[in-house]
Amino acid sequence: MDVVVVGSCNMDFIRYSRETVKGHKFTVGFGGKGSNQCIAAARLGAKTAMIAQVGNDKFGPDYIQNFRDNENVGLVGDTSTGVATITVDMDGKNTIVIVSGANDLLNEASVGQAENIIRSAKVMVCQLEISPKTTLAAMTLAKKHGVTTIFNPAPAMTSLDPQLFVQADITCPNESEAEMLTGEPVKSVEDAKKAVLSLLDMGCRAAIVTLGDQGAVLATATDRLPQHVPARKVKAVDTTGAGDAFVGALAFYRACYPNLALHECVERASEIATVSVQSPGTQTSYSYRRELPQTLF
Ligand code: RIB
Ligand code: NA
Repeated sequence: MDVVVVGSCNMDFIRYSRETVKGHKFTVGFGGKGSNQCIAAARLGAKTAMIAQVGNDKFGPDYIQNFRDNENVGLVGDTSTGVATITVDMDGKNTIVIVSGANDLLNEASVGQAENIIRSAKVMVCQLEISPKTTLAAMTLAKKHGVTTIFNPAPAMTSLDPQLFVQADITCPNESEAEMLTGEPVKSVEDAKKAVLSLLDMGCRAAIVTLGDQGAVLATATDRLPQHVPARKVKAVDTTGAGDAFVGALAFYRACYPNLALHECVERASEIATVSVQSPGTQTSYSYRRELPQTLF
């Protein structure tokens, strides 16, 4: 196993609209930050597993089918599959309302049952769309077995257990999440350079702050030298899930190209996220390895 994700599954109901009342297009797709990251890594060629929970409703069984070989997604009764209603405006920017449903029921016991899968993985990826307690249990178990951990603290949250950052090899927030975590504004590349250092002070071994069309800033605890990786400028159609494309790609590179410098992994992951903003939807916009320039591999 290359990459194991412990995280969320949502059905994404996406409305595209140019004005406030009337939309012009509607789609339903598989989403949720955890699942998005897992699918992004899998399409690049990583062997992946997903540990998650969906509801025993209209969507749950379909969702499990979406993963085909990765059967570690549990069906739980009495609750709905996570849903996200998303509105995408003319500039490709989105607003999201989430009802987390079954995602909230993924607990430490479910993580414990997956110990063999976790132990066999090279990289674990976690987010904050399931309970932070479950996320911490998953990362702690991964570290116990020497698995590299990537923590994507999304969506933005305050008062997190400081242990989450200690258990993370790489912490990777976007600019608003980084603001929430550091308590400092992150509006520019210069701000992001300060933010990565503050994140390192929280105990992770490396920190990456993604900055949308500005690329990303990274630093490691060994050199503490923040580096800016710019992104290629493109016309964005739909930025929903671009951060997840980045994190999934990062996990793929850490697992499958262990000798590639972190800086290089960030450059390539950033290019993969840039490709995803040029087509609509979340998972529907993620590329397969064969569709991408072979210089990325
Ligand atoms: O990061 C994008 C994701 O956030 C969407 O797929 C939606 O499900 C929400 O969880
Ligand atoms: Na997209």
